[in-house]
Amino acid sequence: MDRDEATRMRYEQGLTWKEAANMAGMTESTLKSANFRQRKKQAAQGIAVPERQQSIEVPVLPSDVCIDELKGRKRAEFRRKAVAAEARKLIPIKIKHPGVLSLLFFGDLHLDDPGTDIDLCYHHAALTHIDGVYGVSIGDHTNNWVGRLARLYGNQSTTAAEAIVLCEDFLKSARWAFIISGNHDTWSGAGDIVRWVSSQAGALHGDHQLRCQLRFPQGDPLTIVARHNFAGNSQYSASFGANKASMLDPNPAELYVNGHTHVSGYNIRKNGKILSHALQLSSYKQHDTYAAEHGFQDQHVSPAVLVTIDPLAGMAGRVMVHHDVDVGVEYHKWRMGRA
Ligand SMILES: [Fe+2]
Ligand SMILES: [Fe+2]
Repeated sequence: MDRDEATRMRYEQGLTWKEAANMAGMTESTLKSANFRQRKKQAAQGIAVPERQQSIEVPVLPSDVCIDELKGRKRAEFRRKAVAAEARKLIPIKIKHPGVLSLLFFGDLHLDDPGTDIDLCYHHAALTHIDGVYGVSIGDHTNNWVGRLARLYGNQSTTAAEAIVLCEDFLKSARWAFIISGNHDTWSGAGDIVRWVSSQAGALHGDHQLRCQLRFPQGDPLTIVARHNFAGNSQYSASFGANKASMLDPNPAELYVNGHTHVSGYNIRKNGKILSHALQLSSYKQHDTYAAEHGFQDQHVSPAVLVTIDPLAGMAGRVMVHHDVDVGVEYHKWRMGRA
């Protein structure tokens, strides 16, 4: 018997190297080397190499996954995701009354933080009940320390349970156009209290961002891109992220608003036929140990801004921004009285 025959019998009958080598009348190592060279040659030529026959037999167990069912579920899931994403590309908000309207943009609230001006939060919430004024919250409603950061509850007297009660009470105290969950809120994932309270309050809600278009009974619609945080920072401009978004947006909006950095900033730039306002909102958390520790310069002007919109005005007068919310409300009332 030659070595090829012995090797073939080894695979077919499950013989050991020693048994096959004895049949071929050669040593085990000679047969192994010959076999190795042969397999290498076959592999180079793309010839399937026979595997040694198993000397045991195992059963094929039934799977608990049905691939057809799984693919069907994934298909339906993807369709739902696509429909949801499409609906959020530009959310229409129908304004039913003519004339001016004001949006009160709330910066980062951090309601449970000891450095937060809680009275100012509720004072601004009360202002949203004035005729023609609607609130917009930009996110980070509570500290919501999670994971390694949970140790920071040691720095505040308000417990996590109390923070939830505070958040719910505050959100229900105002009238909202829409509410955004910031990074602190979304750390809770599906357990985000802000999402739940928003639906209770009948407010539009988005994680991180909403792109809305106000549609008035008269006048051109106005698009707002509100994000908890736009990408990009500059030491020369606090509103750099929002301004950059206005520059790169293929469909420019008139208002780009964000929070997160706890500093105030604002600038305008002519964007084709419209004027884009880039707003960086500060925070109600006015005493910040993190900022003190890192030596951040105080760039806080106001935790909120009142934006009065006149849909019938020209480019320069369509959007009026007041960093002093109380002064802005007086302006709003005056404009409402003129309508
Ligand atoms: Fe924040
Ligand atoms: Fe944030």
